[in-house]
Amino acid sequence: MARDWAGSFDDAAERLHFYNDVLEGLTSRIHELIGARLPEHSIWTGTKAVYSSLIARSPGWEIAETFFNSLTRRVFATAGVDQAIEFVDTDFDAPPANAIISITKTYRGRSLPKLLCSALTDAFDEICWDDLQRTAELATARIEAALAAQNSEPELEILSSVFYRGRGAYLVGRVLREGKLPLPIALCLRHENERGIILDALLHGEVDLALLFSFTRSYFRVAVECPYRLVRYLQQLMPRKRLIDLYNAIGFHRHGKTEFYRDFIAHLRKSTDRFVVAEGARGMVMSVFTLPSYDVVFKLIKDQFDLPKDSTREDVRRRYRLVFEHDRAGRLVEAHEFEHLRIPGDRFDPRLLAELLRDAASIVKMEDGDVIIAHAYVERRLRPLNLFFRENEPDAIAAAGRDYGQSVKDLAASNIFPGDLLTKNFGVTRHGRVVFYDYDELCFLTDCHFRKLPEARTPEEEIAAEPWFSVRENDIFPEEFLQFLSFPEPALAALLQHHREIFRADFWRAIQRQIGAGEIPEVFPYREERRLTSDQALSFRPAKG
Ligand SMILES: Nc1ncnc2c1ncn2[C@@H]1O[C@H](COP(=O)(O)OP(=O)(O)OP(=O)(O)O)[C@@H](O)[C@H]1O
Ligand SMILES: [Mg+2]
Repeated sequence: MARDWAGSFDDAAERLHFYNDVLEGLTSRIHELIGARLPEHSIWTGTKAVYSSLIARSPGWEIAETFFNSLTRRVFATAGVDQAIEFVDTDFDAPPANAIISITKTYRGRSLPKLLCSALTDAFDEICWDDLQRTAELATARIEAALAAQNSEPELEILSSVFYRGRGAYLVGRVLREGKLPLPIALCLRHENERGIILDALLHGEVDLALLFSFTRSYFRVAVECPYRLVRYLQQLMPRKRLIDLYNAIGFHRHGKTEFYRDFIAHLRKSTDRFVVAEGARGMVMSVFTLPSYDVVFKLIKDQFDLPKDSTREDVRRRYRLVFEHDRAGRLVEAHEFEHLRIPGDRFDPRLLAELLRDAASIVKMEDGDVIIAHAYVERRLRPLNLFFRENEPDAIAAAGRDYGQSVKDLAASNIFPGDLLTKNFGVTRHGRVVFYDYDELCFLTDCHFRKLPEARTPEEEIAAEPWFSVRENDIFPEEFLQFLSFPEPALAALLQHHREIFRADFWRAIQRQIGAGEIPEVFPYREERRLTSDQALSFRPAKG
């Protein structure tokens, strides 16, 4: 209840490192214990068998399997996978018997506002709340409207775990009513002043929840005993989300990778299409390819970058790492790092394969007919904005143009400047949100120097092709953005109508000042219409649009 937001963000960052820190300690301990016998395969197959029996009763057994995999992959740097020393497939088909603990609480027998109040005061003591009755009634009205009022008694089912992220806490569950499909809901809590916690917004329906749990947001912090049950419950609320995304969303991103790998291999077995170059503009820094029947892209850092790019492989990795650790603000795609991927060579389009072996020779090689990729980022496949603009009707184009502006502003509020604002570097999600995926020039906003274009003093200066004033490395001239954007007319009109200020240096400098003053901005993971309160003190929205 201390409202220590800086501490909360620090915890989130520390949590991301925790897994690796523990693994590192463990790896050195194992080196001490086993010494020279470390590479002996039989030690590890035996260890795996014993370990498997030890975790058989744990409600978090699948996370434990992944942990074992992380360790053996570290020790062996396995190319592809090895079932003898890794849990490539899980050893267990069903959760252990003692994992059948209840993960939700059900409220019934009273009016909906009362049920909501009970759920909220079960999570946080009654004395912590501000304006609880009134907001519970407002939330009820929203629920009734979404469910269409009925005479039967409502039931409220709420996950016992509270979801924390940034400055918010969330209770998640559903409203059940006879004869109706269950309505997924999220209760969004904020605590911005000494009056207490408020119920700031009510989210309802699959799409609202999907946006809250998006792969473009940072992970939640959730205390959970049985992740297996939790993600499956969440999947009932959001049937279109894959387990992988849900494990990631609650912070088990390592296990998300295991799930990804299992799913990917299963998909390869039942599909026949070939990997091809991703549609859109070719990368100067990355080789990007995809399997048409599977909605991710694989991104490999090329050995040599096309001009004028002058960064190095390590620079690029550093920027991707920055994104992993930073608040993604709903606008940066999550990129998972994979090492030693093995994929059958005959699944590659020959031109793509030739290109990879040429442009990324240091990390791609052939072995027994398989392609071995030493390092790749795997991201959700989006529709690149340049293609989206070509393929859609004016209304959709205008909406994407407007959301592009909001995307740039949301990134700014989270202290990120994308570096390269061209449409080829943004993609459109299935919910029509415009998000950024090209990280090699991304930097902190506070490291940029936003300048107004100086006025020409002579006719020669006026027509000069090259700048006649001196420009330093991090100088950025927002007035110039417009020349490069090449937006189609409906998108440009919408962008200028709603977000014209992004073309002015003083807009950017104002945000820099706010960030510099220690304000931790928040980009809300829900729409304004979903809010129940109109407490302006709450909404830090430097980027109102
Ligand atoms: N998540 C994604 N979904 C769909 N397509 C993508 C995705 N990421 C990249 N692409 C495609 O691959 C291309 C190159 O990717 P990206 O922009 O990340 O590489 P880059 O080499 O850094 O680009 P640039 O040359 O602009 O610096 C993009 O222009 C786009 O067409
Ligand atoms: Mg690009």
